[in-house]
Amino acid sequence: MMRDMTSAEMRDEEARAILKRNDKGGYTIPTSGLYPYQWNWDSAFAAVGFAEFDVDRAWAEIETLFSGQWDNGMVPHILFHVPDDGYFPNHDVWQGTGPIPSSGISQPPVAATMARMVLDKDAQAGRARMATLFPKMVAWHRWFMDWRLDRGAVCITHPWEAGRDNAPDWDAAMAAITPNGVGDYTRRDTTHVDSSMRPTKYDYDRYIWLVQRGARLGWDEAAMLQDTPFRVADPTMTFILLRATRDLIAMGESLGEDVTELQGWVTTLEAGAQTLWNPALGCFDGRDAVGGSWAGSISNASFLCWYAGIDHPDMRTRLSEVMALSKYGVPSLTPDDARFDGKRYWRGPVWAIMNMMIAEGLMEFDLPQGAALRSNTADLIAEHGFAEYFDPRDGAPAGGSTFTWTAAVWLAWASPSRQGA
Ligand code: SER
Repeated sequence: MMRDMTSAEMRDEEARAILKRNDKGGYTIPTSGLYPYQWNWDSAFAAVGFAEFDVDRAWAEIETLFSGQWDNGMVPHILFHVPDDGYFPNHDVWQGTGPIPSSGISQPPVAATMARMVLDKDAQAGRARMATLFPKMVAWHRWFMDWRLDRGAVCITHPWEAGRDNAPDWDAAMAAITPNGVGDYTRRDTTHVDSSMRPTKYDYDRYIWLVQRGARLGWDEAAMLQDTPFRVADPTMTFILLRATRDLIAMGESLGEDVTELQGWVTTLEAGAQTLWNPALGCFDGRDAVGGSWAGSISNASFLCWYAGIDHPDMRTRLSEVMALSKYGVPSLTPDDARFDGKRYWRGPVWAIMNMMIAEGLMEFDLPQGAALRSNTADLIAEHGFAEYFDPRDGAPAGGSTFTWTAAVWLAWASPSRQGA
């Protein structure tokens, strides 16, 4: 007689079904309705989920992402493969200039790190796929190094670039923008998700104003840099690029590539990361490269330091403090911050992908909170499903549902079947 499936095995099945349902053939959408296109970092996480049951499909995901790479090396944050009126802003607003209709900005470069996880699944099968992707990934990282550094830290030129759209980290830089002439537009996100879980109109006016500026300048990086209205040195980007470059070096070495240039980038980024240390806060923080102010945010991006190979005794203390306030992992903003909003996107909720990256770093430093974070994430998803993000106070699901990256994190990392593996 067949034994009954455990609830964890049922979640495994559900997660695979979500990836298959969101698979549009070579690329995966984050969730239908709210996000109908290929998003850059979502897609890289999708790949590690697919790698649990279909390694070939995992490589295809990353290859499709890089098919949208621009001549200057940039890999866009959205590829608009098939037009969809349910999303705003679409390509007619962005006017990206790459080989596939796209946005004009990038997103945290997790792809090399995720590709290394896929490669680990089957090194022999993956070798040729990775050999083809390697120079493309190097060109993308070089684009960040050429265009986005401030004292060695990686800057964003639009809040959407960090992936943490409405994080308080950019409040000062956003306040310095007067979105004159932005015109009328109709948001679509709030037709899919309750507006209390999404950025405000104040934010959107500035998001769209920045997009219109980039489009007007033809997304020419040199032109955009002139009198730039928005440039924030960001822990998300800095730590993720540093980590991904280390992974790229490891893969390059095994492919017999010359990685000298990449080693230089690691040295630069390590120094840049230290410029994000806010001594008054005792924490890695966002730094406005135009206005000069600190964000003053103890965010989940702050705790990506270990993932980037950087330890700090004060960060260990900050982590214990934050984890004592949240049983489901590291919230996007510490709950004792006056700006905390438990349901509003990146101003409070917990995100499974951030928990995974933070925990991986902690485990590499043999810090016990890594395992705790993993089991917190497993509890969160087992109890509350595959939401886009969750309220850290009670785990209530928020944002989009049947979400690709939450399913991928479950399959590749949080599921009890993986933890026992
Ligand atoms: N996250 C943005 C959105 O909500 C775009 O990257 O549409």
